[in-house]
Amino acid sequence: MEAVPVDRMAEKVSTPFYCYSAAAIRGRIGLCQSAFEAIGATIHYAVKANSNLAVLGLMAEAGLGADIVSEGELVRALQAGIEPRTIIFSGVGKRRAELLAALDAGIFQFNLESLPELEQLADLCRTRGCTANVSIRVNPEVDAATHRHITTGVKGSKFGIPIEQMASALNLIAASDGLQLHGLAVHIGSQIVEPEPYRRACRRLRRWVFDMRAQGHAINHLDLGGGFGIDYGDGRCLDYRAVAAVMEQELGDLAVQIAVEPGRSLVAEAGLLVSEVVYRKEVEPVPFLILDAGMNDLLRPALYQATHQLVTLKEPDGVPEICHVVGPVCESSDTFLRQVSLPQIAAGERVALLHAGAYGAVMASGYNSRDIIPEVMVSGDHYTLVRRAVSYRDLMAYELPE
Ligand code: LLP
Repeated sequence: MEAVPVDRMAEKVSTPFYCYSAAAIRGRIGLCQSAFEAIGATIHYAVKANSNLAVLGLMAEAGLGADIVSEGELVRALQAGIEPRTIIFSGVGKRRAELLAALDAGIFQFNLESLPELEQLADLCRTRGCTANVSIRVNPEVDAATHRHITTGVKGSKFGIPIEQMASALNLIAASDGLQLHGLAVHIGSQIVEPEPYRRACRRLRRWVFDMRAQGHAINHLDLGGGFGIDYGDGRCLDYRAVAAVMEQELGDLAVQIAVEPGRSLVAEAGLLVSEVVYRKEVEPVPFLILDAGMNDLLRPALYQATHQLVTLKEPDGVPEICHVVGPVCESSDTFLRQVSLPQIAAGERVALLHAGAYGAVMASGYNSRDIIPEVMVSGDHYTLVRRAVSYRDLMAYELPE
């Protein structure tokens, strides 16, 4: 990883652990900025993808804004040095205290996802005598054809305000003293590998902008969300420039400020999950490699049948074999790879699961009373432990036996 041998880190940090390359993250940020800043769009990193303060520090250093979904993410973003005036607050269940914390911080925009949430924020602004910039997150009813667990913009989804309720939302905003209408927001899903769903979403937004302006509403901001897919090994991914071109073609003449909220595409490829083979279990017809990393560390394969490719840390030798790669957790779904062809790997050898920088560490749990594993950031020829392990003992210390 950059100039640091992963094996050398593994000797010090002990497996399993997550490891990120600062240069790789900076490289992705650069690509994202050159594509979107060229069309005048602002970039708000979706903190949920990887909220480690060191990762957020890289976003702050590059001047990116943030897309947050909780008070915890707000506090992390602020602590990392992200400017409050670049923060967008998304999410369907923002509690009153969370809205208040974001109001106090002076964030850029609240994306409203329901009429009751809108009323809650209007009430808070009234009692505090302050104002808030709001965009209506609309459900655009665009099917982005991704995994059903991560598609968000289809009819009947819990996200966004249904189109039928948009007029009520606009009236409520117009009638409130505290809410300033910015514009509209959509997020059509995640790991989208073609620009076409974005084109469909842009066309809907375009129509709504005309309709709303005709009714006298000032629409100056459009937030297109995130969702830009990366190549997990099948060669399919989305080029930032392709999406930016679609946005420019479909919305360029509307005189609106465009915002995007990429998460995965900025960090996924920069991360490894480093693990050791605990046992080889010879079972006919397919042997198992049992890792010391499990579904509690990297949930994506179990939850979405996602594939994370595996590489060995030493030079492969011998003929490849077909095997299953599993974790130690007591669930059949704790399987990383099924029937995969790999070089012969013995117990005690180290391996790395690729593309683990997004939705990896952030989705970890202590299931089976396992540790929450540490995270390491590599930069050039040095590395830093950027989160120590949260051990089962640490977690036990919070319990209150009678
Ligand atoms: N904006 C909003 C409102 C979102 O809900 C999300 C992701 C993003 C931006 C960032 O999307 P990205 O660029 O990362 O695709 N845990 C799943 C992904 C869940 C995505 C949730 N929302 C996974 O591991 O695939």
